[in-house]
Amino acid sequence: MNVDEVLQAAEAEVAAAVNEAGLESVRIRQLGRQGALTKLLKGLGKLPKAQRPAAGTAINAAKTRLQRLIAKRQAALATEQLAAKMAAEAVDVTLPGRRPGAGGLHPVSQALARVEDIFVGAGYDVFSGLEVEDDYHNFEALNIPPAHPARAMHDTFYFADGSLLRTHTSPAQVHVMESQQPPIRVICPGRVYRRDSDLTHTPMFHQIEGLVIDRGISFAHLKGTITDFVRRFFERELRLRFRPSYFPFTEPSAEVDVQCVHCLGHGCRVCGRTGWLEILGCGLVHPRALAMSGIDPETWSGFAFGMGGDRLAMLLHEVNDIRLFFENDLRFLEQFN
Ligand code: DAH
Repeated sequence: MNVDEVLQAAEAEVAAAVNEAGLESVRIRQLGRQGALTKLLKGLGKLPKAQRPAAGTAINAAKTRLQRLIAKRQAALATEQLAAKMAAEAVDVTLPGRRPGAGGLHPVSQALARVEDIFVGAGYDVFSGLEVEDDYHNFEALNIPPAHPARAMHDTFYFADGSLLRTHTSPAQVHVMESQQPPIRVICPGRVYRRDSDLTHTPMFHQIEGLVIDRGISFAHLKGTITDFVRRFFERELRLRFRPSYFPFTEPSAEVDVQCVHCLGHGCRVCGRTGWLEILGCGLVHPRALAMSGIDPETWSGFAFGMGGDRLAMLLHEVNDIRLFFENDLRFLEQFN
């Protein structure tokens, strides 16, 4: 092959190279130590002396031309590759962003907050009390002495030193009465514990205690407060029923039922076909309970109530199994956000 033929073939190879590696192998094939043009240069010596200068000039010109072509092609390939990379990594700024998943409040926490909002709006303070209590605050100061049968209903968790996990939020009332004089308006939401676990009971659950002490507080105030609360909490007109009951720390005492939120009183599985759902216990604070905590029952009277936070959440959302609240299945929990 003569110079022109070698150059023509080399130019075609350069044009056909699709990447920098391919281009480099063209360079080696043509300009490397064993390359076609290099061989032509080496072959100069075999030519008749008179032809050598012209042939040498032609080969060198071809070599320079090929080097330029390779450099140009290389620059073009680099630009192409960069463009391809940019296209592949392009970010479409017009796409909507991906929001990080936000957590939400647990439905029971939401229900407790809802109760808090209602009472805080009516001028009540909030006091959480203690989860680890002593026998005096959990029982005795609530007029439940050591041998009292009411203790049997509480299935208490005891610690070795005699302290215990509170079985209800009522001991929070005692702390409030011990530390301040009336007028008192307070609610105490929090966790309580009982050794109990089945379809309708979990060892830990939530209660909200309410306590109002002032001059001349009567059962009418209690009834009005509960009626107003239920209306605000369920945002519906539900019938209420006050049933006479017994608690050692209130006299008289009552349990309150609301018209079943599910069947509106017709009778269904949720209410056990009675049409009613029990939501709280309440009463006028027993004079003995007032006196034991340093409040003069001759001057002051009060009412108290205690309701189940989990139960309120179940009724509000028509959830039929309390255990769903404690299994932390996100498919369940996400419905409340
Ligand atoms: N502590 C009671 C319980 O856990 C509920 C209760 C009843 C609280 C009457 C009260 C009340 O404050 O007045 O069963």
